[in-house]
Amino acid sequence: MDHKDYKNICTQCFPVIHNVGSFIKKELGSVSTEQIEVKGLNSLVSYVDKTAEEMLVKALAEILPEAGFITEENTVEQGGKDVLWIIDPLDGTNNFLHGIPHFAVSIGLLQHDELVVGLVLEVNSKELFYAWKDGGAYRNGDKIKVSTTPTLSEALVGTGFPYKVDDVAPLIRTLGHFMRYARGVRRMGAAALDLAYVACGRFDAYYETTLSAWDAAGGAIILKEAGGMVSDFRGGSNYLFGEELIASNGLVHKEALKAIKKNFRI
Ligand code: IPD
Ligand code: CA
Ligand code: CA
Repeated sequence: MDHKDYKNICTQCFPVIHNVGSFIKKELGSVSTEQIEVKGLNSLVSYVDKTAEEMLVKALAEILPEAGFITEENTVEQGGKDVLWIIDPLDGTNNFLHGIPHFAVSIGLLQHDELVVGLVLEVNSKELFYAWKDGGAYRNGDKIKVSTTPTLSEALVGTGFPYKVDDVAPLIRTLGHFMRYARGVRRMGAAALDLAYVACGRFDAYYETTLSAWDAAGGAIILKEAGGMVSDFRGGSNYLFGEELIASNGLVHKEALKAIKKNFRI
């Protein structure tokens, strides 16, 4: 697979992701309490997440039969291939179940440990963010770029809070730092969209702990192709499977990372 193929694969995913988005939107408000399953503390799932994943798996396997899968809802055999679709069928399940119109479908494609295609669809607005390796990043056909905000004091910073947390102290310290030294902090509730928001300049930075690969894959390549920077909390590249991630426009990365390291005592 090369660049021509990446673009082609990305384009073939458009109808797939829109179709799944339409299904999710149709189910908004229809999930009853009995249909909600508790996966872990504060981590909920319903038939909507699972059906959306099955739809994605079926359609993406047709686009690239040689690829395997890493998926949140485990509806298919996981891993074991050089090329992997990394899927979050419904990112922002809590928002979805509470009727808050901010949730997404996220698809990433990993080839030999490198992200080569990414798509994130905000289901309600039908904003589709996408990118392929070395092809730039787009929102509904228009090229997007990260912001040019030069310092943390002018930055709007997104974050997320873990569902389950044993030690809140480093999180609170870090949040306190950004509340004090940044222009504002947001907790929107869908990690894939947080990354897409940095990619298109709405946020200047975003950080979160306890993320999974499916939260980050689609958005991370979109962000990189939009000129942004993404790393783990040590400044390294283990942000996909390392459970912690900081993303930025590049210009405020050093300053934001320094604050994270200090407050997480890294
Ligand atoms: C969650 C959302 C949320 C983030 C959590 C994720 P889910 O994904 O992205 O914003 O704070 O860490 O697990 O469970 O809605 O797919
Ligand atoms: Ca998620
Ligand atoms: Ca999910």
